[in-house]
Amino acid sequence: MAMQETFESVRADIERRLRDGVENRNSAMHTPVVATGNADARIMVLRDFDAQNWTLRFHTDVRAPKVPEIEADPRVGVLAYDRGAKLQLRGRGSGRIERNGPVADAAWEESTNFARRCYLGEGPGARSDKPTSGLPEWIEGEEPSETQVQPARENFAVLIVHIDEIDWFYLSNDGHRRAVLTRTGKGRWIAP
Ligand SMILES: Cc1cc2nc3c(=O)[nH]c(=O)nc-3n(C[C@H](O)[C@H](O)[C@H](O)COP(=O)(O)O)c2cc1C
Repeated sequence: MAMQETFESVRADIERRLRDGVENRNSAMHTPVVATGNADARIMVLRDFDAQNWTLRFHTDVRAPKVPEIEADPRVGVLAYDRGAKLQLRGRGSGRIERNGPVADAAWEESTNFARRCYLGEGPGARSDKPTSGLPEWIEGEEPSETQVQPARENFAVLIVHIDEIDWFYLSNDGHRRAVLTRTGKGRWIAP
């Protein structure tokens, strides 16, 4: 990757990488770490990036522990490292869970019945006496029909993360580079 030496080019690089994270499943930005205020972190699939508002969209089960956590404390960190590009992106912002409304509805509509099936079973974190997928037996390994998958909708929500700033860190033998860009402001160079 060519060294980025202006805030404009860093911003363009960040936005291009996040867009690629949505569209390209092999991109490092496709599966970032999403951290919450309780020092917990987990991998989530990046579903959408809105460059205008610097928002990220993720999908989640409303019964997952991260949901009440984010509702109580909206601070969210998003972290990814692209090994090939030698680039770390570290975002900070606030998260909002939307169970209903146009964004959650559209995300559900776009999902395949296979993807929707994940929301049919036990909630993430539910205890089990034996190793389990959490899914009811009748649907293991099967694609559910539209009707069968309907009850799963109430367990589905979107997590919208409104990014306040992104720390862009590029590793290079010629000297690392690091910039912090805010959503609206200019940016600042800092020592790596
Ligand atoms: C590759 C990969 C992708 C994942 N994608 C998601 C996702 O998009 N949404 C999600 O809620 N959990 C996803 N998970 C599961 C989470 O990492 C986590 O185990 C689960 O959401 C429970 O998190 P919580 O206990 O913090 O709520 C994914 C896990 C892996 C390994």
